[in-house]
Amino acid sequence: MVWGIIGAMPSEIALLKAQMSGIKQETVSGLTYYSGKIRGKEVVLCCSEIGKVNAAMCAQTMVLRYGVGCLINTGVAGCTCDDLDVLDIVLSRDLVFHDYDWALQEKYHPHTSKFPGDPGLIALAQLALEQMPQRMFRYKLGRIATGDVFVEQEALREDIIRRTHPDCVEMEGAAIALVAYSNQIPCLVIRSMSDNANGDAGMSFDTFEAAAADHSAKLLLAMLEQSDA
Ligand code: ADE
Repeated sequence: MVWGIIGAMPSEIALLKAQMSGIKQETVSGLTYYSGKIRGKEVVLCCSEIGKVNAAMCAQTMVLRYGVGCLINTGVAGCTCDDLDVLDIVLSRDLVFHDYDWALQEKYHPHTSKFPGDPGLIALAQLALEQMPQRMFRYKLGRIATGDVFVEQEALREDIIRRTHPDCVEMEGAAIALVAYSNQIPCLVIRSMSDNANGDAGMSFDTFEAAAADHSAKLLLAMLEQSDA
């Protein structure tokens, strides 16, 4: 199986790219795809750039051009729950859009507004987390809400929480999950908290982006190591 791995920003793929051997690269529709091996597993890795449309374009290219057998999105997010803090991790129990009318999504393609994380990939992530020596951060299986905005206004934060009850917010996950769902391939989104999606989010993001991105990537490295796929 080829693992399709997407990060939206260079920081989110840096560690993974550094661990990749036999790299071949190709640019398709303006995005660069790196094929090779990480921890002995065949992967294609791409920095999709930010937002739902870029992420969907990247995910669909991975499916059609590289024949990936799963889609993993790794990166950072703004925390919207009370029981996690910066650098803690959310694994996608499910993903939703916070800026898309759920009723329309249910009526038209893809006829659902909630995109579940794949149980096998979730189990693999949990196993990898439990076996991490001296893990200093918490994790939870939760809801990730995606939209084309960096959430830092308190009023927007509260509105998103009231409408969609997420554990964190980011800008790509549900778009990648929709592509996976449409192509019937397993998907998991891993997000480490860089901020609390509030008035301090900009400063917190600048401080914690790199460390949070690495936390998420390290978990994915451990998953690749554990996997026999
Ligand atoms: N990614 C990291 N922090 C975020 C935030 N506050 N809003 C949206 N995406 C994010």
